[in-house]
Amino acid sequence: MKRASQKPEGKPTRGKTADNRLRRVDNFVLLYESSLLTRTDGLFADSLFVDLGYGFDARTTLESAARFRRVNPNLKILGVEIDKERVEAALPFADDKTFFRLGGFNLPLKPAERVRLIRAFNVLRQYEEGEFIPAYEQLAEYILPGGLMVEGTSTPFGNVWAANLVRRVEPAQWSFEALVFSTNFHAGFEVEEFQTILPKNYIHRIVKGENIFHFFEAWKRSAAETAHAKTFGLKQWFSAAAGVLAQKGFNIDLHKKWLGKGYLIWRL
Ligand SMILES: C[S@@+](CC[C@H](N)C(=O)[O-])C[C@H]1O[C@@H](n2cnc3c(N)ncnc32)[C@H](O)[C@@H]1O
Repeated sequence: MKRASQKPEGKPTRGKTADNRLRRVDNFVLLYESSLLTRTDGLFADSLFVDLGYGFDARTTLESAARFRRVNPNLKILGVEIDKERVEAALPFADDKTFFRLGGFNLPLKPAERVRLIRAFNVLRQYEEGEFIPAYEQLAEYILPGGLMVEGTSTPFGNVWAANLVRRVEPAQWSFEALVFSTNFHAGFEVEEFQTILPKNYIHRIVKGENIFHFFEAWKRSAAETAHAKTFGLKQWFSAAAGVLAQKGFNIDLHKKWLGKGYLIWRL
């Protein structure tokens, strides 16, 4: 495993962030698998949540620290940035369980440190498509078996986002568990909007013959076929469209706890 002293792998990119931009991502993780944040069995005891590429200041990392420590007050959190100045700007907020370090896809971990969860948001969007797989392969080396990574892209204020949910399986690789879409409905409900913020492995693949293309075609048709539900509200429309999308053969999680909150989970 590569360790802290090495040159960070990746490239500095724009550092834009916003207050509570990733709140719905964290709320999703808490609802999806809060045990990931609380478990203390085996190597999970003391393991870290890593916020990779937190941006020009540490606000999203600190907000997540507050959110996740409601379920696990002892959770250790590591913010990683490839930009030295951004690490320096964050260091005044470090404490005995909140760390900020210079690093890249080769995470700057100390020898005994393990990772339970990685969040990488609005990071890979600025890379080339060909850099996606090497970055994922690199990150898989550090996370505990059973651990998760949520890697995705959002709109500037986080109202809408899409993310890969990947689980670390043996031997040191990711299993793509789901593609998750999230909206707080502030901008209405437009399937096309999700298309513009797809993770890097999908965004260039909206072409006939690709599964993601057919998924979006089916979702748009499902939204059109259920447009009457709009009269009962956007959440009802979103849920009705998801139901019809599932009937078209896509493995959508139809539990109300997701759809009612604006999360569409396509299980892969
Ligand atoms: C647009 S900001 C995202 C900030 C925050 N995650 C958000 O969603 O609001 C992307 C940040 O990722 C950092 N970054 C890019 N590649 C990285 C890498 N390989 N490792 C660590 N940080 C990286 C950039 O320096 C930049 O500050």
